[in-house]
Amino acid sequence: MSFDLVLFGGTGDLAWRKLLPALAQAYRHGSLPQGGRIIGVARDSLTDDEYRALIRSRFEGVEDDKQPTGEEFQRFAQLLHYQRMDLTQPDDYQQLKSRLAERNADVVVMYLATAPQLFTVACEQLGAAGLATPQTRVVLEKPLGHDLQSNRAINAAVRRVFDEGQIFRIDHYLGKPSVQNLLALRFGNALFEPWWRRETIASIEITIAEQLGVEARGAFYDGTGALRDMVQNHALQLLCAIAMEPPINAHADAIRDEKLKVLRSLSPWTPTTLAQDVVRGQYAAGSLAGQRVPGYREEDGVAPASHTETFVALRTQIANWRWAGVPFYIRTGKRLAAREAHIAIHLRPTPHAIYPTPLVCGANRLVIHLQPRDGLALHLFAAASETRGAQALAEAPGLTPVQLDLDFEQRFGSRRVGAYERLLLDVIAGRLNLFVRADEQEAAWRWVEPIMQSWQEQDARGEGPRLYAAGTWGPGAASALVARDGNTWIEEC
Ligand code: BG6
Repeated sequence: MSFDLVLFGGTGDLAWRKLLPALAQAYRHGSLPQGGRIIGVARDSLTDDEYRALIRSRFEGVEDDKQPTGEEFQRFAQLLHYQRMDLTQPDDYQQLKSRLAERNADVVVMYLATAPQLFTVACEQLGAAGLATPQTRVVLEKPLGHDLQSNRAINAAVRRVFDEGQIFRIDHYLGKPSVQNLLALRFGNALFEPWWRRETIASIEITIAEQLGVEARGAFYDGTGALRDMVQNHALQLLCAIAMEPPINAHADAIRDEKLKVLRSLSPWTPTTLAQDVVRGQYAAGSLAGQRVPGYREEDGVAPASHTETFVALRTQIANWRWAGVPFYIRTGKRLAAREAHIAIHLRPTPHAIYPTPLVCGANRLVIHLQPRDGLALHLFAAASETRGAQALAEAPGLTPVQLDLDFEQRFGSRRVGAYERLLLDVIAGRLNLFVRADEQEAAWRWVEPIMQSWQEQDARGEGPRLYAAGTWGPGAASALVARDGNTWIEEC
């Protein structure tokens, strides 16, 4: 199968940090279909060779294990081409059209790795130029809009040109091997289903903690914030994977229908829950790994009195039979104490205790580790029959926490495929399972909007986010949020 992958934003950060390294990996693994061409598109005037040299130099910043050797890059570079375009100029689309007509590939992927303001115009122009053929697929990077209204406007504009089945909305978390494993765990094993419900599960925690700050994206981030950058998409997609009902089959719409039901069942916000169950934070200067790091407001591109949140913690519920009454906690932030993403499923305690209550997190839990380590840990209690002193013997026998651990990295090692590699291959193959449908996205925006509104009102009253020192786990209010239910975040266990 031949393909042309047109990479709009071909010289941008996302292209050289994530997309081209992922394509190079796929090429190295032999999984990229033969006969492909990757056409980088940007405004600069570059020849194919100059583009290849630019990408080669940028690859030096790529993680070691994704770094191709000189010879590997030479071979991969034969796939790379360049097309100068101004996305607002109709003539430039005609030039692209001539270039694509040279080969008439079986599949043409238009990957919009550009500023979201350009999505609408790019799709309109692709349509006007006759570049939206049945062979065409369009990939839209997040953020897709700034709120429900802008999200709908983009989706409507894209759908005037492409059918829903041609639209691939990326949430790279869905491509992570750990998220694939979460679905496999739930729907490929009979073991979990009987207890995957309110009768056994006491609460669920989703944490996506980053040590990184805003890096070079201060100006973008300051207009975005953690709620739009991480919660509306990545965190809610994780929540859907945890909470959804088993789909009737593995087809894209069967899975997406179930996720949509979860999003629609999230408890609506009220003035009381907005005030009590949402914590907005922003990092102040602090230290990470012994180095002083600046506060958010000192970062390049960030307004000196910015109220943009770099941390969100919230508590919600899912109003359906499976989950009624189970608190779901979501927490994400930048410049936190560790890079750590996990989902912790806390089980209810035994109904009748015959052992003294263990002091450390007194019930079983299943922790799905997403990153940096990717695996499962089942926390149980055992009776350790170790030699004990005379005084200890006099006490009632206690329980010792033990852990069953599965490390997917160790188990599957080099056979694993990274998130963008997986998603790019899926786009070329036309598999929509791991992409987000318009109605899911809209439901997610609808749910976060009252939070955004309440923060605007707080801002108007001069109440900004709570500050936390970089290198900590966020504002103390986040601990208080779970403590109210008698819970703790797992690093506090
Ligand atoms: C992106 C956000 O979608 O996800 C970034 O825009 C964030 O701000 C990144 O750093 C986190 O992704 P990962 O895969 O490193 O956890």
